[in-house]
Amino acid sequence: MATDFTEETATAAVVESFANTPDPRLRELLGCLVKHLHAFAREAEPTIGEWEQAIEFLTATGQKSDAERQEFILLSDVLGVSMLVETINHRKTAGATEATVLGPFHMTVSPRRELGDTIDLIGTGPQTVVKGRVLSVDGTPLPAAELDVWQASDQGFYDVQQPGGQPRGNGRGLFTADADGAFWFRTVLPSYYPIPTDGPVGSLLAATKRHPYRPAHIHFIATAPGHSPLTTHIFVAGSEYIESDAVFAVKRSLIVDFTRVDDPAEAVGYGLTAPFHLATFDIVLQPAP
Ligand code: BEZ
Ligand code: FE
Repeated sequence: MATDFTEETATAAVVESFANTPDPRLRELLGCLVKHLHAFAREAEPTIGEWEQAIEFLTATGQKSDAERQEFILLSDVLGVSMLVETINHRKTAGATEATVLGPFHMTVSPRRELGDTIDLIGTGPQTVVKGRVLSVDGTPLPAAELDVWQASDQGFYDVQQPGGQPRGNGRGLFTADADGAFWFRTVLPSYYPIPTDGPVGSLLAATKRHPYRPAHIHFIATAPGHSPLTTHIFVAGSEYIESDAVFAVKRSLIVDFTRVDDPAEAVGYGLTAPFHLATFDIVLQPAP
């Protein structure tokens, strides 16, 4: 340990202080963190006041968090760290569907529904059918695949955000694919919506003139025996904010056309009346390592 703290010796001294950490991975993570934090301080040279402000911001972020609200995850999301970690951990292997962030609204158990059921319990917005197949990377259908689906309403709110205003389980469903790995369900065309802005992350966005919006999307968690689970979304092609998602979660491969169908005969096939929107999207899972 150095006896004379200087700008030059600081980083090595702190890294060295963790040398006896028994867990080698923890030692590596802490060493890396210290090096990058010190590099930040050297480059940005924050004043004492600015550093105090940063600590106050992080304190407020913790204070805003509870069992239902996770402001630190939101901070990680708007800084692009969540998506970077997600992407690093799911480096795309040829043909597999790409992953995106879970987000804070997967907080209740989705109601079990049958294929073809609607997850829209309100019924006033644009009717939509989502269909596809769950496959393994070699193209084999995965008949026992389970899909957990959740989305915001056409007004841009999740059911948990409007406890008195939306039926519980609205916009949510747990489906099992059929013998061909196929799935389909009815819903409402989702809307773009803002991430929560009533906390420190909202203040950060306001101070930096960033908007809080996410483009319209539907979340999925897909699981199948012998395969790695996948958390992803599909994005509505052409949605507002598709090029400036507040949490950087858009990947080109996940943008799907929600095509307007005006043909009454096609609508009847889905138990609907025209017009409706049709989105077709296969989910391809990787075999578990
Ligand atoms: C969401 O899509 O539900 C979401 C993701 C990250 C932050 C906020 C919301
Ligand atoms: Fe969402």
